[in-house]
Amino acid sequence: MASAPAAAPAVTFQPGRRAPLPPRCTHSERGVSFDPGSAFYRSDSAPGRDLAVLAATLHRRRRPDPSAPFLCLDAMCGSGVRALRYLAQAGADFVWANDASDALHPVIVGNLSRFEPVPPEGQRRWVVSHLDATRLLAERYLRREYFDVIDVDSFGSEAEYIRAAFLALKIGGLLYLTSTDWRSARGYGGKCSLSSYGAYVLPVPYPNEIGLRMLLGGAAREAAMLGFHIKPVFSYYAYHGPIFRAMVQLCHGKEDGISNYGFICHCKSCGQSQTFGFDELGQISCGCANRTVGCHFNHSCRPTLDRSSP
Ligand SMILES: C[S@@+](CC[C@H](N)C(=O)[O-])C[C@H]1O[C@@H](n2cnc3c(N)ncnc32)[C@H](O)[C@@H]1O
Ligand SMILES: [Zn+2]
Repeated sequence: MASAPAAAPAVTFQPGRRAPLPPRCTHSERGVSFDPGSAFYRSDSAPGRDLAVLAATLHRRRRPDPSAPFLCLDAMCGSGVRALRYLAQAGADFVWANDASDALHPVIVGNLSRFEPVPPEGQRRWVVSHLDATRLLAERYLRREYFDVIDVDSFGSEAEYIRAAFLALKIGGLLYLTSTDWRSARGYGGKCSLSSYGAYVLPVPYPNEIGLRMLLGGAAREAAMLGFHIKPVFSYYAYHGPIFRAMVQLCHGKEDGISNYGFICHCKSCGQSQTFGFDELGQISCGCANRTVGCHFNHSCRPTLDRSSP
């Protein structure tokens, strides 16, 4: 049976450093009480966390070896609320909670302390660290510590952690991605989305969906570079922020010939949209009488977005 990684936490209390204050439990989310302290926390994001807990729970039950320890890593944990929910609600045996800000240490430790860090009879349940997410993930990979679920709840369109997250993920594991780059989704951030996700987006009437496809396309590209492919589990657009979230499963091997990675084109004349593959480049046109096509590129996964459950 594999054991939980990290016998020693990457960051521990220094002598003389203040011990965590007992949580004030000013908040409760789906029955789990915690103290957000000074961390970035939005109650509006609870449905995004609900979906993560639900997907993780189903994944834990459906793994090839459900008796193996179920390991989660929350790379940008803020107050630690979702790390806490992975422990309390998704049945995680071990959670690694990380946030670059070490000022949040007492808040995160206070919240996770509802669970004994090392129960007398068993394996370590949680670790808190304060590293840059990419560094943390790369270190886990170098130590061959692979996780069942990795959650990266980032701001903006920074995507540099995606590859490191795949490297630290078990094959078959789930990666939960976030983007708040609404400018790119609406077609006003071309160069930004090109460098982050390899997608050049022009304005179309369905930017919320495009933002999700942009995120999925970026993940598909990173996985392919490592010799894997992804299956989207769900994608979720939240109006506040706005926030684009996608849960993807890492799968063995490069994708077969039936790839959904391609382009979406929107005709400015008739309003129809179509998808095109790379092998159809140069033949892009609309069937409408006018034949005026505004070709709006986006790497996309058209049918797979229809999946609503793992
Ligand atoms: C959106 S908040 C996290 C909210 C939290 N996941 C929740 O559900 O309430 C993003 C967090 O990422 C942290 N952060 C920003 N850049 C980071 C980085 N490069 N590595 C690790 N943490 C980072 C910030 O300190 C912030 O607490
Ligand atoms: Zn047309």
